Amino acid sequence: MAKMWAGRTDGVTDRVADDFNASIHFDCRMYREDIAGSMAHAAMLGKQGIITPKEAEILRAGLAGILADLESGALAFDYTAEDIHMFVEAELTARLGEVGKKLHTARSRNDQVALDLRLLLRREMDEISASLRELLSVLADLAEKHAATIMPGYTHLQRAQPITFGHYLMAYASMIARDLSRYADARARMNLSPIGSCALAGTTYDTDRAFEARELSFDGVMGNSLDGVSDRDFCLEFLSASSILMTHLSRLAEELILYSSWEFSFIELSDAYTTGSSIMPQKKNSDMAELIRGKTGRVFGDMVAMFTILKGLPLAYNKDMQEDKERVFDTVDTVKACLDVLTPMLATMTVKEKNMRAAAAGGFINATDLADYLVTKGMPFRSAYKIAGELVAYCIANKTTLEELPLAVYQSYSDLFDEGVFAAIDLDACVERRCSEGGTSPKSVRAQVNALKNFLGE
Ligand code: ARG
Repeated sequence: MAKMWAGRTDGVTDRVADDFNASIHFDCRMYREDIAGSMAHAAMLGKQGIITPKEAEILRAGLAGILADLESGALAFDYTAEDIHMFVEAELTARLGEVGKKLHTARSRNDQVALDLRLLLRREMDEISASLRELLSVLADLAEKHAATIMPGYTHLQRAQPITFGHYLMAYASMIARDLSRYADARARMNLSPIGSCALAGTTYDTDRAFEARELSFDGVMGNSLDGVSDRDFCLEFLSASSILMTHLSRLAEELILYSSWEFSFIELSDAYTTGSSIMPQKKNSDMAELIRGKTGRVFGDMVAMFTILKGLPLAYNKDMQEDKERVFDTVDTVKACLDVLTPMLATMTVKEKNMRAAAAGGFINATDLADYLVTKGMPFRSAYKIAGELVAYCIANKTTLEELPLAVYQSYSDLFDEGVFAAIDLDACVERRCSEGGTSPKSVRAQVNALKNFLGE
């Protein structure tokens, strides 16, 4: 069959080349956006007298019919059409005859595809943002519940200082809150309409771009038509923000895996978010958390692919840009799928407070507090640090802990020690004293949770 664009050539292409060129297999996902854009376009053409108001009405009714039939399943995509734009236009013309051919006046597929992808991504980003809010709300509730649950805090994956589990969770909440604001920033820059840029140079018709933009809930129009059709920064921003988000999810997933191992045993994931082994009966594997960590790689891949596709492109539209959609769709689907699993996984996990506390009690995690105690007695920090280190070495050599060490031993290292040392190195006291803003004390954690809840509007 000859192509819609037959004229300059006979419009007959090789079948394999046709398949290679086509994007309908994946851009059919934008049918709602494509039809919404065409409805706005028809309204604008009618309002401006480029077509008659009657014709605009006929086009809009025809488009509404196509949408309804696609939604009901009465109409199926024709995968021999090159792309979703060609499919809708061809179907419209088949239904309406000559008037259908008027829809594409003062428009090009170049500005049409830029419009469709913006509309789709705007909707998807709003859905992802709603999921991020849910995740934040679960983190806030958990952090509130565990504002005083003591666990070891790590640096270099070595026990460092006691922290609260609530404090730990709020660290991830802080990251996710930034992710949410990154999507909001990207959305604001993205929410300008490219339609009316036409093929590249604008148009000779008396169009009203602002009207079309308003019809489609954009904040305004893009200021340069060459940029309007060739800009994919909004894809890069979405993929970059998503890569950062996935980095955060991956770090959290890694710790869920680690903390649910026998070696840590700080948490247990609900059975619903684990799998068994086909051979080892004792196994409870955190497959879903591992997949979140693993899928991070494909999102990075989408981001790098998109940058690579764009980096050498001359202005304005080039067919290379058709490769944008699968990258964007894949990241949308991956991010949503990960969030759909992660949020309930967190909400349903069991926190093994006793084990966390036992781990915090070993490892001389209160050695800094021991040094600080001597500082309060008047010793310079560097000297106090040295004595605390020697006491830890003594405990290791004698297989004991700072809590169990007799006062006499303490006093053999410095006569500044008295009974008060035991209260000073008590884990709860260590944590409670770190009440600086953003610190680990239950009070500081509750303040962080409140700030987050305010931000979420709860
Ligand atoms: N399917 C194309 C894409 O996804 C639509 C734009 C085609 N424009 C063109 N001049 N061939 O990018």
